[in-house]
Amino acid sequence: MKRVMGFVTLVALVAGCGTGLSELEQKAALEQGAVISDASFQGLSARLQKAMNEGGPAHAVEFCSLNAMAIVDSLSAVHGARIRRTSDRVRSPHDKPDDEEANMMHAMLTEWEVDQPEKGIQARAVTYGDSIAYYRPIFISSPACLKCHGVKSETADASALDAIAARYPGDEATGYQLGELRGMWSIRWAR
Ligand code: HEC
Repeated sequence: MKRVMGFVTLVALVAGCGTGLSELEQKAALEQGAVISDASFQGLSARLQKAMNEGGPAHAVEFCSLNAMAIVDSLSAVHGARIRRTSDRVRSPHDKPDDEEANMMHAMLTEWEVDQPEKGIQARAVTYGDSIAYYRPIFISSPACLKCHGVKSETADASALDAIAARYPGDEATGYQLGELRGMWSIRWAR
């Protein structure tokens, strides 16, 4: 009997009832996560665009390396959430995934590579201890991303790559194509 119960629980988890959130909480969490990640994306990309216009890609790399984390931290304070960007191939050491994030990133990559390259993949919200954890995929959404994340000697900008090599010796975040899954937002807030 015990065995059967265990099996039933497992099936329920695998079937997707394992988020730990009621349907209503799930819906609210996905909405809140979308608001926070939209605001964060806009906050970062407006400043990135400005730096690109003012001084070109290499200057924008310098700007990001000095300011990206502070911008995201101030957005965290505004939204009462811990906001991060992470990836399986990070540029900045402070964006390295924790175990939960690494698992989620792996799940998203598998889903995306197997059958969703055109449709994209959905954000998810799950419980994380006393918090809600929200994960949203980040794609190489515009050719502008390729200047700093594209293929060397092809789509990437040479001066940007020099600036990146100088500031991020362990960089793994080049070689991407337009439309590829680059990473994800990882946002947590108190339930
Ligand atoms: C001017 C160069 C530049 C451009 C253009 C650029 N990035 Fe980045 N990207 C960076 C740098 C530098 C970092 C590391 C920032 C830091 O130190 O926090 C970074 C970090 C990231 C991260 C966090 C994970 C990691 O690897 O550290 C993601 C996700 C990301 N970029 C996605 C994008 C997307 C999507 C675009 C296009 C919309 C884009 N980037 C355009 C330079 C750039």
